[in-house]
Amino acid sequence: MGSQIAQVISSSGIRVVAYDVREDLLSRGLDLIRNGKYGFEASVAKSRISREDANRAFWRITTTTSLEKALDHAQFVLEAVVEDLTIKRDIFRKASEIADPASVLATNTSTLSISQIGSELRPKDRSRVAGMHFFNPPQLMKLVEIVRTKKTSEATVAKISAIALHLGKTPIVEMDYPGFVANRIGISVFAEASEILDKGVSNVRDIDLAMRLGYGYPMGPFELGDLVGLDARLRNMQALFQQTKDERFKPPKLLKKLVRESYFGDPKSKPGSKGGYYEYFQMKRPSEE
Ligand code: 3HC
Repeated sequence: MGSQIAQVISSSGIRVVAYDVREDLLSRGLDLIRNGKYGFEASVAKSRISREDANRAFWRITTTTSLEKALDHAQFVLEAVVEDLTIKRDIFRKASEIADPASVLATNTSTLSISQIGSELRPKDRSRVAGMHFFNPPQLMKLVEIVRTKKTSEATVAKISAIALHLGKTPIVEMDYPGFVANRIGISVFAEASEILDKGVSNVRDIDLAMRLGYGYPMGPFELGDLVGLDARLRNMQALFQQTKDERFKPPKLLKKLVRESYFGDPKSKPGSKGGYYEYFQMKRPSEE
């Protein structure tokens, strides 16, 4: 998601320094920004943006494998690395030491506790920490959840809110709570759909159609899982289950099996994946019919 968020931010005129641990991952991110389904080439082809503006936005993004360089003089830090508390804490510790002391330290985590991510920082730095949670695909989805802890300052919330508005998004402000608001509800729907599938009540396509046509959802829970990534869904559920001990969020056996067998989601949005629920069951997604 990081590369797509970088695209959204650079498109708004802000310079972005994108960091990842390896050059090939950075190249893959730049390729998604350029050639992905919602990338610059697609936008130029649909005349959503001029070729010149797309090029300018693309060149506003520079990349580095040095976290120190990425953070040097950074005025706004947004972390979107893998959902691993230890890695995130390490990044936040470095960010609090290297980035501009007035900078916001935001995380795009889906389900990890924002308070825990910032818990090892000095009290004055904890006030700069908050969630800034985008939704897939970030180029299109309008919502940004701003997740505050008891230590987050009003100034931090105001700065994130101003940036979200500048990006053309609608920010909502919430307290740190497992799953926040949108994922808490969205993952509950996915968990319920998985149980219905597991009990043999219906199949993935018909369950998705039930939510599309019966409830007016733009996508059903399984095609949405395939879009956001089954590995991400699994980690979200593991984190939610760990935090709440609520059986509702216990990862479904089939989801674990799919991830174990390299079904990481729809190959169109998850390069290198064997597929998602639809490839596993050899069915056509409702969007492909
Ligand atoms: N910026 C803006 N618009 C762009 C664009 C860009 N960079 N690139 C393409 N577009 C345009 C396309 O040109 C197209 O416009 P057109 O209709 O005028 O041609 C339009 O965006 C939509 O493109 P699609 O054909 O893909 O549109 P669909 O109608 O199929 O909608 C969808 C796709 C928006 C993904 C819709 O199915 C949807 O809303 N699905 C649900 C998504 C959702 O629930 N996301 C949340 C997931 S949970 C999450 O992310 C949380 C995390 O923590 C895991």
